[in-house]
Amino acid sequence: MSATPSAEAARRRTFAIISHPDAGKTTLTENLLLAGGAIRAAGAVRARGENRRTRSDWMKIERERGISVSASVMTFDHQGLMFNLLDTPGHEDFSEDTYRTLTAADAAVMVLDAAKGIEPQTLKLFEVCRLRDIPIVTFINKMDREAQDPFELLDEIASKLALDPSPLYWPAGSGGRFKGMLDLRSQKFLPFAKQREADDKHPDAIAFKGAAIASYLDADEVEELSDNAELAQGGLKPFDPQAFLEGHMTPVFFGSALRHFGVDQLLEGLGAYAPAPKTVPALRGGEETHVAPGDREVSGFVFKVQANMDPNHRDRIAFLRLTSGQFARGMKLKVQNTGRQLSVNAPIMFFASDRELAEEAFAGDVIGIPNHGVLRVGDSLSESGALRFAGLPNFAPEILQRVRVKDPLKAKHLKKALEGLAEEGVTQLFRPALGSDFIVGAVGQLQFEVMADRLANEYQLQVIFEPSPYAEARWLGGDKADVEDFVAKHRSAIGTDIDEQPVYLAKSSWDINYAADRYPKVRFERSKERA
Ligand code: G4P
Repeated sequence: MSATPSAEAARRRTFAIISHPDAGKTTLTENLLLAGGAIRAAGAVRARGENRRTRSDWMKIERERGISVSASVMTFDHQGLMFNLLDTPGHEDFSEDTYRTLTAADAAVMVLDAAKGIEPQTLKLFEVCRLRDIPIVTFINKMDREAQDPFELLDEIASKLALDPSPLYWPAGSGGRFKGMLDLRSQKFLPFAKQREADDKHPDAIAFKGAAIASYLDADEVEELSDNAELAQGGLKPFDPQAFLEGHMTPVFFGSALRHFGVDQLLEGLGAYAPAPKTVPALRGGEETHVAPGDREVSGFVFKVQANMDPNHRDRIAFLRLTSGQFARGMKLKVQNTGRQLSVNAPIMFFASDRELAEEAFAGDVIGIPNHGVLRVGDSLSESGALRFAGLPNFAPEILQRVRVKDPLKAKHLKKALEGLAEEGVTQLFRPALGSDFIVGAVGQLQFEVMADRLANEYQLQVIFEPSPYAEARWLGGDKADVEDFVAKHRSAIGTDIDEQPVYLAKSSWDINYAADRYPKVRFERSKERA
């Protein structure tokens, strides 16, 4: 028997990890799963990944480039809490995908490499979190290596992110001199074991002021740590949970993901401070309303669609983030914009080592719904079909290319394949009003490579990308008559997107400015929310 939907939602912690490549996101993910009891030995995630990779050529890119392309979710139950960890792609070309994944997260862990601090991709991802006011927990990783001065790292957070860092721990040294950290709240010292065997624990925490500290720190080190801790507590704001929830402050943890140090403390911090699912704004039949996690009606939104996760099954899975109610397997849900109803008979939940059928789920949970193209990114689902959640935009692509299939007899095939990928939200597809070309838009070059690879492996299509005459795309907004007037006068630069919405395909940004000057009533939009 489950508790009420609101009590169940209150014990959910749905979060994502953001980081610059190589800061340690994968290692931390693995060790969080280990700390949460979801896997027994570090290495399980990777081993499973390797298995999957050998079966799917798409993942080849992931392996060759050493980056994580596909976003996934992992769920684990730990100390009375249910954690849903959303994996976000680390590569910058996938920022749009990442953005959408973050719409499904209630908090984010920002992983910094202690030697490098804030890197370009950290900054970009942070900005996405800030756009959505997602509370951020900071984990300063790789303390077992030579690190920057912690004060400098915290200064950098304050100056580059305009976020108040509030350390909950303070490290004693780094690299070869890394001895552990002091819990600033309890004044207990957590020793770091240098020669730890895989299954051994680090020594238990001890009182910093007691005699036992001498086993871990010499007198100079005690004095240094004591001074630094005092300085940190005197000079930095004390942790204020409310300021954290509002996105003004970040609690800072230190550790070494690789050596499983500080990871239990991070997980504990997430449990204690990260928010449970919240009440969110929505539209019901066009009227503004709010949806609370404990509401009776089951509702949620699709933030990601992934095709062919398992090449043997040609499945397409929509990831639904639940926002309210008690979902039960077999339930019928309606898609708001199409009115289509679907029986969710085989919802999947993703545990570290396996996928399982979800018998029930609550706000904060993410379930995978296998379907044949009925569900698209941005779809709102609910029992009544009347609820709509906002905030899943498409962004104007930065590269537009023409795509051609090598075998002209397969042109029809290509159309279907491109539509499939566009529906997943991987890339965008535009059909110019004149001519028979397909124009594909993406935020970065790597997306084209992924696309070519997937078209070859999943659809047996060899394609060629060629430069297109277009440099930018803008969605057209405004009164119908004004838009139609603009469209009629610019036929050669008009296309439609996958929803048949008109798009201005411009040769340069100068063209857009020029058009915007001449047609002040038409809006040239950089992003579009699905209607
Ligand atoms: P990412 O997902 O953010 O890209 O980073 P990932 O976890 O793959 O880590 C990048 C590299 O940093 C890996 O080394 C990993 O072992 C190492 N690393 C992660 N956390 C720590 C840490 O706390 N301390 C130390 N010393 N290293 C850490 P690699 O050599 O590139 O890969 P591998 O051969 O170890 O898998």
